[in-house]
Order: sequence, then C-alpha cells, then structure tokens
Amino acid sequence: MDIDNIRNMLRTIDGQIMGLVLQRWSLMTGVAAWKKEHGKPIHAPAVEAANLERILESAQAMGLDADFATEIAAAIIKHSKDRQCELLELDTMLPTIQPPIGELRTNLLKLCAVTAPVYDNEYDQWGRDDGSQTGGPSGRRDKAIHAYRKREAKLIDDVIASLPQHELALDIGCATGPVVKSSLEDRFEVVRAIDVSEDMIRAAEASDHQWPGHVEFEATEVRAQLPAGDNSVSFLVCNFGTASEALPNHWQEIHRVLAPGGKALLSFYNKEALSNFWYYPGPTTLRAHYNYRNDTVEVWVGGTAFTVFAQGHTVESVREGASAAGLAVEIQTYPTLYSLLPPFALKAPHWGPLCDAATDMDDKLAASEVTRGTYITAVLTK
Ligand SMILES: C[S@@+](CC[C@H](N)C(=O)[O-])C[C@H]1O[C@@H](n2cnc3c(N)ncnc32)[C@H](O)[C@@H]1O
Repeated sequence: MDIDNIRNMLRTIDGQIMGLVLQRWSLMTGVAAWKKEHGKPIHAPAVEAANLERILESAQAMGLDADFATEIAAAIIKHSKDRQCELLELDTMLPTIQPPIGELRTNLLKLCAVTAPVYDNEYDQWGRDDGSQTGGPSGRRDKAIHAYRKREAKLIDDVIASLPQHELALDIGCATGPVVKSSLEDRFEVVRAIDVSEDMIRAAEASDHQWPGHVEFEATEVRAQLPAGDNSVSFLVCNFGTASEALPNHWQEIHRVLAPGGKALLSFYNKEALSNFWYYPGPTTLRAHYNYRNDTVEVWVGGTAFTVFAQGHTVESVREGASAAGLAVEIQTYPTLYSLLPPFALKAPHWGPLCDAATDMDDKLAASEVTRGTYITAVLTK
C-alpha cells in the first residue's frame, strides 16, 4: 500500500477515535448528575481498578501492548473525572469524608490476605540487591519502591549501629518480616514482630527462612497502647508508611517504651507530598495513593483497590508531636519526583535518563528544606 493510502486510512481512524471519545465525554453529564444525586465521590477507585483490569485483559487478548492500552484508558478516565468536577463545580475528585473505621480495617485485612502470599516476592530484598536499573518484579516501573526501600534499609541499619544497647527490638506492622530478616534478627537479643493481619504472620512463619529462637511473631492489632513495658525497647521500627496506619499519634507511648538512648524509626505518608496530586488513575510507581483529603491510602492490587486508614502528617506536625513528648527528631521526606512518573510510561528505554535524574534529585531533596516527598521518615531518640 502506498504511503498516501496509509495516511488517508490513519486520518479516518483518528476521526473515528475522536468521535468515540466525544461520545464518551458527553455521557459524563449523566454520570455527574447520578453521583450528585447519590452523594458519590467522583473518584471511584474500585470501579477504575476493575475497568483498567478489564481493558488490560482485552488488550492482551487482542495482542495490544498492555501498557499502551492502560495509558490511553488512564488519560480518558482522568479527563472524564475532570469533566465531572467541572460540571459539579468541585475542586477535587477525591472523596473528602473518611469511610467508617470498621470498613477501613476490614479492607486492610482483605488487602493483607491478598498480598501475604506474594509479599516476600514483591517487597523483600529490594533494599539489599545490586540496585540494578530494572528494579523489582515489574521492572523500571517499580523503581520508586525499590529506591525507597533501599534508602530506608540503609537508614534503619545506620540507626541500629548508633544505638547504645541492642536488647529488645519492636517491629510494628512487620508484614512477613522483611525488616526482621534484613536488619533485626542478627543485631538484637529479642525481636518482637507484630502485625494485625493473621495472614501476614502465618506467611512469615511458613516461609523458608529459619527464624532464630529469639524472634517472636505476634498477630495483634496495635491500638492506643504499645505492647511493651516502660523503658524496655532499644529500637522501635514502623516503616514503609506503616506509622500512618498503626502509630498515627503515638508520641507519648513511644517515649514511654523506649529505653534511655533508645530510638524509633517511623515512616508516615506526607500530607504535603507532590505525589498527593497524582494525575493518572492507575497505580503510581509506589502503588499506593495517599488521599490527603480524608486520611486514607488506596492500594491497587490487580483489578482491586483497597482503601485503608492512614493518618498523614507534615514535617511540622511530626516535629511538634515528637518534641512535645520530649523526643529528639531527625526528619527526611522521600521520594519527591520519581513517584510522579506514570508507571506505564517508564517501560520505554528512552525514559531511563529521566528516571535517573529524578532519583538523583530525590536523593538531594530528601534532607532539604523542600519537604514534598511521598513519605516522611522520622528518627526519634529518647
Ligand atoms: C506497608 S505494610 C508492611 C511494612 C513492613 N514493615 C515492610 O517493611 O514491608 C503495613 C503493615 O502494617 C500492618 N498494620 C497496619 N495497622 C496495624 C496496626 N494497627 N497494628 C498492627 N499492624 C498493623 C498491616 O497489616 C501491614 O502488614
């Protein structure tokens, strides 16, 4: 076929695509009216996750590149939500009211049940490997998690090396025990690893790893009180955003349980993070979206989105909480830019320099005055 014919066909197809986009666009008036009548937020993660999964499946069945299909679908969904905001004169597509806490807790347990069997494969060892360009199991798109884990693992090790004593370590929200394995079991006399999810604890205990006798796993929900005596803990860790879930405002309790000179490493979602304003509906490179409007986190796993409780903080609120409890505090935020890159776009090799530049800048921004990183990592000292 000659090039003029091909160009004519392309023009026709482009016109058809635009016609379909317009048809879809015009249906938003009805969707917006229905959402208003039923008090539903514009952003409906469970519906989007299921839709994207369906699109992915049909793309794969047709032999279309799945990331390309997601990119198109994501852009269309994003514009549809913007249109609904415009029609309803809303300044956010996000839900602004927090769902009942019991519902969020049920979601967390469901999320853990789904992720426990694959958790080690997905998240373990990332802070420990050679830092290769491909990142985790999904390649470059997981590099933000990879970079975060790596940085956090180093920080945990540095904090442990600076402790005056290594008696009891407490890991709150231990999941299947990646931190116990990499940083705690060889360095403390006793390690207590706690998680609300029985699925996570069972998966930890059933893993191939031989846990030493001084490591105890416990399926318990941490509530207002920490499960430890006064002045008994050399090191408390609650990492990878988990302090937002399990220790939202536990400053006095942390002061109570830490031994003199003891330290805690907490990781919170940042209320001021740039990534809170994510553009695409698909999972970010961190796979979890923090909603600063209602203190929840949306975790996307395949065709499902689980919304769970997460109390976000600002650098200022962490500083104030820790200082009021008499704890010294050092703070970083990380990553700032990498978590803005849409995951499906990161596959193409020509994005490599952008990814590397974002990582370099994130390293520099971590301890700077610009506190817009996705996670706030705080090291508290009694
Ligand atoms: C981000 S994940 C795991 C982080 C893990 N330390 C790591 O390095 O991969 C958070 C974990 O915290 C647990 N969790 C959340 N809230 C909790 C609570 N109130 N008490 C105990 N565990 C909790 C969840 O069940 C989940 O396994």
